[in-house]
Amino acid sequence: MAASNAKTQAIPPSATIGILGGGQLGRMTALAAAPLGYRVHIFCPDAGSPATQVCDRHTIAPYDDAEALAAFAASVDVVTYEFENVPAATADALAGKVPLRPKPEILAICQDRLKEKNFLNGIGVPTAPFAEARDAEALDRALREIGRPAVLKSVRMGYDGKGQVGIAPDTDPAAAWAEMAGSIPDATGVVEGWVDFDLEISVIVARGVDGEMATYVPGENHHTNHILHRTYAPARVADPVAEHAESLARRIAERIDLVGVMGVEMFVTPEGDVLVNELAPRPHNSGHWTIDACVASQFEQHARSVAGLPLASTDRLANAVMQNLLGDEVNGWPGIVREPHAKLHLYGKAEVKPGRKMGHVTRLYPHGPW
Ligand SMILES: Nc1ncnc2c1ncn2[C@@H]1O[C@H](COP(=O)(O)OP(=O)(O)O)[C@@H](O)[C@H]1O
Ligand SMILES: [Mg+2]
Repeated sequence: MAASNAKTQAIPPSATIGILGGGQLGRMTALAAAPLGYRVHIFCPDAGSPATQVCDRHTIAPYDDAEALAAFAASVDVVTYEFENVPAATADALAGKVPLRPKPEILAICQDRLKEKNFLNGIGVPTAPFAEARDAEALDRALREIGRPAVLKSVRMGYDGKGQVGIAPDTDPAAAWAEMAGSIPDATGVVEGWVDFDLEISVIVARGVDGEMATYVPGENHHTNHILHRTYAPARVADPVAEHAESLARRIAERIDLVGVMGVEMFVTPEGDVLVNELAPRPHNSGHWTIDACVASQFEQHARSVAGLPLASTDRLANAVMQNLLGDEVNGWPGIVREPHAKLHLYGKAEVKPGRKMGHVTRLYPHGPW
């Protein structure tokens, strides 16, 4: 079946996977691609980045360097990315030269919180109530519609809580708008009703070129200062909630025509409803536990799917708690390497900054709950 269809033709081992982005997600994808026999070529602007330390080849150039992109495209068999804010012009420069997986249309949706929420609601996936706001007056109107408390977010370029302003019952909309617009130039806003959730969970879903899908059990996510700090796998939710969450992730992957892996962030309400918060069309921080606790990690699935290989098993061999090593928490490594069931992952970042993801540790609980 596969052989007759060019789209499903596997890229054979010894071929080269190109990755846009040099961070830890690219690093861990490169490390997972290596046992499958692939070479990896990293394209990123900064020398010495985490991924460039573990790859076969790297190009250090800005994302708008057309010449460097053309040479990169000529040197690889497929291109993927490890961050969703890949500029549209970069994707366009590669288009037609080499397959880009996941496809650029997915980037356009996931770079824009409004497009993302409209897409989700359009396929019957619930989100928090939301409305667009282009200025302080529109925000005031939107708040009357949505109610308070709420949160104002920049439609584009937000991460780790950046570009977000909480709106309490007494917050002045003009001040909230000024705060958000001051942090992100030319920002369009989206205002969301505040979800009084019981838990935040995420599902990592993989989808191959032939449409085959696999999900991992939901992980339960805990943040510190808006930055993911710990993921507990499996999440403490009832089985039907976990199954529902996985089915939503599959619906999204199928309807968005994903090839690769995607992290789907969700809120679980006290009633057991599941609302989708945001999508990341790439390996996700909340899926790092899969490296040490599952038959195949999210990074292996990503390499497999972009290369057109079949997916592997997402079975969990142990329960796990993944802790990000944020800022100087990384200095705790001497204790971590003494723990027999702790798996340490350091990202090779030279400079420690507060809140910076320097590495992570996954603690395995093979004989019972964490
Ligand atoms: N509508 C909301 N209701 C309740 N909490 C929210 C809402 N939106 C965001 N949050 C909280 O803020 C965190 C960061 O928001 P998110 O939309 O995921 O942006 P980021 O791109 O920064 O991850 C979420 O993980 C959640 O804890
Ligand atoms: Mg998020």
